[in-house]
Amino acid sequence: MAAENGNKPRVLSGIQPSGNLTIGNYLGALKQWVAVQHDYDCFYCVVDLHAITVAQDPAELRRKTRESAAIYLAAGIDPEISTVFVQSHIPAHSELAWMLTCMAPLGWLNRMTQFKDKSAKQSQESIGAGLLNYPSLMAADILLYHADLVPVGDDQNQHLEFTRDLAQRFNHLYGETFTLPSVMNPQAGARVMGLDNPTAKMSKSEASENHAVFLLDDLARARKKVMRAVTDSHREIRFSDDRERAGVNNLLTIYQAITGETQEAIESGFANKGYGDLKRAVADCVVGTLEPLQARYNELMNEAGYLDSVLKIGREKAADIANDTLKLAQARMGFLASS
Ligand code: TRP
Repeated sequence: MAAENGNKPRVLSGIQPSGNLTIGNYLGALKQWVAVQHDYDCFYCVVDLHAITVAQDPAELRRKTRESAAIYLAAGIDPEISTVFVQSHIPAHSELAWMLTCMAPLGWLNRMTQFKDKSAKQSQESIGAGLLNYPSLMAADILLYHADLVPVGDDQNQHLEFTRDLAQRFNHLYGETFTLPSVMNPQAGARVMGLDNPTAKMSKSEASENHAVFLLDDLARARKKVMRAVTDSHREIRFSDDRERAGVNNLLTIYQAITGETQEAIESGFANKGYGDLKRAVADCVVGTLEPLQARYNELMNEAGYLDSVLKIGREKAADIANDTLKLAQARMGFLASS
């Protein structure tokens, strides 16, 4: 059942519109999405149904959903080549997610580290069931399109495993229906850490001021955040797995992800330089990335109707595929066809 457009394998990925997109989202996801779009048949969605697993303000959610889609385009996703759409525009996502939820063992869901992390921060009484069922919805996103490859940060590998296991279970019980997807982790910069706390992944929903550089940050502010990044009391500028040196390693990782230089070249370039020089160099790269992205963002947000027309075309293309897969899965599970 492999989905093909010509002979191109299919790629699907998504980001939640649950905060402002960060340089971590760009280097860990968007940059790779852009890079692979000519070689694969790509589907990129704004996963608003995932965002509501924690409470969202309705007006904010609406605004962030459009903003996220516009950032995908501003980052270089070409809507003539890739399919860009909003998850909730395609009801098949919710419908298949329910069918998969009913097949997902509680044991598997309880073992998901993202669920354990997120639920640990709330009282057991108030955790929304959506947080637990989140992986079944993600599996539906992927399986509806028969995606062959899913570019995600390595923190999502467990959800990909879950998707494969669930697809296998469905295929085994009801007959070959879903394609088993493989994970595609980006190379350097896969994991950008918090600037104020370099042992935790940079998050778009973290409140503290100097945690993340947002893609739409004012350039002076972005620069200031990099200049204030946590480092350490050593002097040497080199890549390191040492927890204590995570701040410098993070700055070097960002530098590498943007410049594409090798670790050796970067380390020798910074030999005999200080942390101030490193921060200035990283700030320059970050600002150099943000500036053209923001220019394109402003341009396309100012073009009345453009973004909505892209999302409408995306919805139509995605719905054709998703609805076919949903129908097949419903028939296999034993739902009576409506006449
Ligand atoms: N769970 C992913 C994340 O937090 C977002 C996501 C939802 C996703 N559905 C997806 C990623 C489908 C890839 C494919 O990063």
